Amino acid sequence: MNFNSLFRRKNINDILANAESEATHGSLARHLGVKDLTSLGIAAIIGAGIFTTIGQASADGGPAVVFLFLFTALACGFAAFAYAEFASVVPVSGSAYTYSYVAFGELFAWIIGWALIMEYAIGNITVAIGWSGYFTELLARMSIHLPDWSTIDYISASNGFKEAQLLIAEGTAINKLSHGLQEAYFAWQHAPTIFGFRIIADFPALLITFLITWLVYRGIKESKNASNAMVIIKIAVVLLVIAVGAFYVDTTNWDPFAPNGLGGVLKGVSAVFFAYIGFDAISTTAEECKNPQRDLPRGMMWAIIICTVLYILIALVLTGMVHYSELAVNDPLAFVFTKVSDLKWLSGIIAVSAVIAMASVLLVFQIGQPRIWMSMSRDGLLPKRFAKIHPKFNTPSFSTIVTGLIVGGGALFLNMSTVTDLCSIGTLFAFVLVCAGVLRLESMGVERTFKTPYVNSQWIAPAGVILAIILTYRYNQNGFMNFLTSTPATGSEMSSLSVFLHNIPLWIFVIITLILTGLCMVRKYSLIPVLGLVSCLYMMSQIELKNWVGFMVWLAIGLVLYFSYGYKNSKLAKQAANS
Ligand code: ALA
Repeated sequence: MNFNSLFRRKNINDILANAESEATHGSLARHLGVKDLTSLGIAAIIGAGIFTTIGQASADGGPAVVFLFLFTALACGFAAFAYAEFASVVPVSGSAYTYSYVAFGELFAWIIGWALIMEYAIGNITVAIGWSGYFTELLARMSIHLPDWSTIDYISASNGFKEAQLLIAEGTAINKLSHGLQEAYFAWQHAPTIFGFRIIADFPALLITFLITWLVYRGIKESKNASNAMVIIKIAVVLLVIAVGAFYVDTTNWDPFAPNGLGGVLKGVSAVFFAYIGFDAISTTAEECKNPQRDLPRGMMWAIIICTVLYILIALVLTGMVHYSELAVNDPLAFVFTKVSDLKWLSGIIAVSAVIAMASVLLVFQIGQPRIWMSMSRDGLLPKRFAKIHPKFNTPSFSTIVTGLIVGGGALFLNMSTVTDLCSIGTLFAFVLVCAGVLRLESMGVERTFKTPYVNSQWIAPAGVILAIILTYRYNQNGFMNFLTSTPATGSEMSSLSVFLHNIPLWIFVIITLILTGLCMVRKYSLIPVLGLVSCLYMMSQIELKNWVGFMVWLAIGLVLYFSYGYKNSKLAKQAANS
């Protein structure tokens, strides 16, 4: 094996020439403007994050979770610049996968393609589970009660049952347990068994996945107008929650504002980041933009700004309407209105809209995933079948079915917080590489029609690091690492070995940041991609170690596949052999 061949890169001119000759791409009409791109961005962004995962994040962090929304918006804003810059250099679909092929070469492109499966497929598992939460709630309103064991995953039921048992042993009445714990308790108790194994699985999540996959397989595509209509429904319902909920905010619920300190807020990193995922997906429409260089960055920024404002207001309303500790439910937006006796009808409307909103995210990502596999297959990195187009429906039929099976199987059994974390790690990883890729484009001297505004990081980067160290020492007695992480600082029940292991991702973050600062001083890097890189790495460092292990195992499987298949069958490898 030739080491250099691992980093064989695609030539930008070849990509552009190929894109022109691909009938499917070459014939795409350039009809998307800033408004459409903003709308598409919102279509992909607003989904399970704001309708579901925000509940647990608010329960952990309290009202102060709004600061996490702000920080995450900034990180995503920096990354959006990097995406826009790449999209202007390589205005073809393929997103981060294609960008990495240009900037870093094949091995990284493969790794990113593999990580994007985490974003799209694992992300869709999260959305399907969230969808199931609202759907079940909706049926219950119509007095249709599905058995608890058929609407929850096995792990949540098992963990929830144990927790509920402890509380009951301590004297808590069953009907005083939280909604989620009651559900887990009854699911575990009433589940049918086969050979002693309890049948507990989220069947509605499987159902919606198969339904959407079938639509995607049949070639149903979200048209511009349909997507705009979905966005209007989503924004309308979010605004409704904010406008009506604001009247029921009890400001005593905001005190204390950060009940579990910074550690509690940071626990929500992956849930909150998940709520922003999707703006990057619009970079895949670069070939259909009227003026991608001008409109793509604007569309992404507007989508992020609008969603940030909505998210912060929603978080304030939710934590103001009920005590933050009650929010650990699967359907927080509908749940808070069930607490107000004359507003129960509103929670029904919210549940219906959430079901529609989440189905649309599911649709966008379920369309995206097979197309990334298709790109990888065309490059020879996956078997040809993944690029197979259905003769009648004109869709990548095989990839679509595989996507449906993976998402459906996962949604049936996996636990929400695990899949949210995995999806967030995969996406953050892609963001980090895209930001790093922009720094690399600079040093390669590639011509770009859109350039992130240049601010020299030479002295700002080291000044920022020194300031961060001074501030954390000045304002935190528990030590630098404790301040930066979600580890409980005092009264911790974690052993010192667990704390050490828990902090490994954070140490890696600190080391990379210091190396990067040194590089900034020498190479005068552009500040915005550097900030994007550091803030995304920081969020990655906050994700639980066990999910990192899961991610590493995933990458290891990916590398085995690459070396056993992609490395040999790569189109670039064949071209090199023929020349
Ligand atoms: N941001 C998307 C959602 O929250 C993935 O569903």
